[in-house]
Amino acid sequence: ESKQIPREEGIEHTLDFLKEGYLFVSNRSHGFQSNIFETRLLGEPVICMRGEEEGQLFYDESKFRRDGAAPKRILKTLFGEGGVQTLDGEAHKHRKAAFMSLMSGDRLEEMRRLARERWEEALTRWERREEIVLYDEALTLLFKAACDWAGVPFRQNEAEEKAQMIRLMIESTSSISPNHWKGRRARTQAEEWIKELITDVREGKLHPREQTALYVFAWHRDLDGELLDTHTAAVEVLNIVRPIVAVAIYVDFTALAVHQHSSARERLASKDEQELKMFVQEVRRFYPFFPFVPARVRDGFTWNDYTFPKNRLVLLDLYGTNHHPDLWDNPEKFDPTRFQGWKESPFSFIPQGGGDYDYGHRCAGEWITVEIMKEGLDYLANRMTYGIPEQDVSYSFNDMPALPHSKMIMKHVTRK
Ligand code: HEM
Repeated sequence: ESKQIPREEGIEHTLDFLKEGYLFVSNRSHGFQSNIFETRLLGEPVICMRGEEEGQLFYDESKFRRDGAAPKRILKTLFGEGGVQTLDGEAHKHRKAAFMSLMSGDRLEEMRRLARERWEEALTRWERREEIVLYDEALTLLFKAACDWAGVPFRQNEAEEKAQMIRLMIESTSSISPNHWKGRRARTQAEEWIKELITDVREGKLHPREQTALYVFAWHRDLDGELLDTHTAAVEVLNIVRPIVAVAIYVDFTALAVHQHSSARERLASKDEQELKMFVQEVRRFYPFFPFVPARVRDGFTWNDYTFPKNRLVLLDLYGTNHHPDLWDNPEKFDPTRFQGWKESPFSFIPQGGGDYDYGHRCAGEWITVEIMKEGLDYLANRMTYGIPEQDVSYSFNDMPALPHSKMIMKHVTRK
């Protein structure tokens, strides 16, 4: 026996989607009293879901594919074409293994150390200034750390400009804005830059260390035994550099959380790793970042008496799952202690996707994100003093990605 998935009336809800942003799915789930409903976006029917069981379903690869799921405009800006996000099955597993080979314990420690070096360098600069905008500073700081870690050479005097190029790719995702075209141009430029480096590596003119992303993707062979074409190799190197730079968004939200929650901040003074980690986890749960992930139904199937037709586009709501009232006590309260003795689940806490790293599409960079954030948090809470002048720290749920409007202005930064 099959049931009808609750369906929103009307032929097009893209404008509502743009207006409501991160809250689009939750708002309707609330109205329908259902974790699953159907609407229409960009001219086609779309099933939206949030929740733990729903996440488990979404990450069942026998039921869903990624090829043809992400909108073209996202591929032209944020992700790049031909990258790991769009692969399925064996091809995906093989490419994903190359990403995960970069994430050993040693390499994670190295990332943390590189981040610390760049915070130290930046602090010296900030001490000479009246005021800084943390977001802009974090972009450049993390760009340098990302390149160091990925084996990508750059000149110090071009770091800021290149960091801004990556920023345009990250901020271009809202679909109807001039930012989209800036993002496309930035992606083309970034790909050209990295393609040349790939060629240099292959021609023996550049020798990145073996464990770095530049080395790994210059020499990675796909299942057919061929090297990646230079474009695809560049897309994958950028799949490392770009999101490390994007951690600047989380660094900005971390600063906001440190500013607003003095009791939580006091617990950080011990510099205890566990305290830093709990705070960082709560930042990743609480603040909006990556809103949804898309997939398409392979062959039709039935789940909980609901019919999922072949090829139907399905969105899993990451933000809504991280705020789901059935999964979290007081989900709208910022409270790092909720992660004390937290029973890990691969499908309830999913700011960077759910499921399995090696076999599914869960974010390859989740551990490294946590390392970078812990280091940033230690600086923001313990290793520097600064004033937060009056400013608009609110953020909009229809900005994607969201960011405190003021981007966190700090005055009189000094090393502690
Ligand atoms: C995939 C979020 C940082 C590399 C993803 C996905 C999300 C995500 C939601 C998609 C999951 C899915 O499709 O099911 C984030 C957020 C980050 C972040 C919010 C914070 C800045 C990073 C970092 C790296 C990285 C630092 C690399 C160093 C990747 C890769 C994929 C991915 C390669 C594709 C995985 C695949 O398709 O198998 N990320 N990510 N991400 N992320 Fe991240």
